[in-house]
Amino acid sequence: MGRMDGIRNIVILTGAGISAESGLRTFRAEDGLWEDHRVEDVATPQAFRRDPELVQRFYDLRRENVLAALPNPAHDALARLDREWRGDLLIVTQNIDDLHERAGASRVLHMHGEALSAWCTACDARHRWTGTLLDRPPCPACGAAQLRPDIVWFGEMPYQMDRIFAALARADLFVSIGTSGAVYPAAGFVQQAASHGARTLELNLERSLGSSAFDETRLGPASELVPQWVDEVLG
Ligand code: APR
Repeated sequence: MGRMDGIRNIVILTGAGISAESGLRTFRAEDGLWEDHRVEDVATPQAFRRDPELVQRFYDLRRENVLAALPNPAHDALARLDREWRGDLLIVTQNIDDLHERAGASRVLHMHGEALSAWCTACDARHRWTGTLLDRPPCPACGAAQLRPDIVWFGEMPYQMDRIFAALARADLFVSIGTSGAVYPAAGFVQQAASHGARTLELNLERSLGSSAFDETRLGPASELVPQWVDEVLG
């Protein structure tokens, strides 16, 4: 009985930990983003109404960091899995960076938005964006100066939840990589998947808040654990 017998549909959840070795800060580590910034000041709709410049400056810097970062072996391994896995696969990322795609993965869903996307709150258009928003550039579609980062802030509904729940309901295997399990609804996906009969695996640097919910937890850096796991899966 091989490890992957009976496994056809895989859902993978990734968090900030998978991009840490690409030089992008996580949120809740000692040197995490939330150490320097209060969530209430930079990551809520209220904060944006109160001080749009502070919020735009915060995300302009994050956009710059994303553009300067490179995929690491964990991203590369998941891109290989995406290319070679014949069954269903969905990489649900909480990350706003595009390192999964730059590594070559295509079955990727950004549930918390994307740093390289700007959203016009006047005409609802979304635009690939690599520049800044602090200087209030006009929307390329309607000309209004009402572009905001296309990011899901605290208190807002994550994107494509229907598609995520449908994939979790069909999953035979759920894998969580580089996330602390501190933020819902993502932190509840393991229970969702398990309730539909999926096997569950966690790959993380340290035990997370949700570790006890997983069938198996492996501890270590993603750049080592993920390629090893993908080698096992693809045999
Ligand atoms: N390899 C594997 N795991 C790592 C690595 C690494 N190199 N470095 C850190 N980690 C793990 C940490 O142990 C931690 O459990 O990654 C996790 C990062 O946790 P958080 O900083 O809380 O980030 P994340 O879980 O992605 O946050 C969820 O919260 O702030 C919001 O919207 C934001 O999407 C984010 C959400």
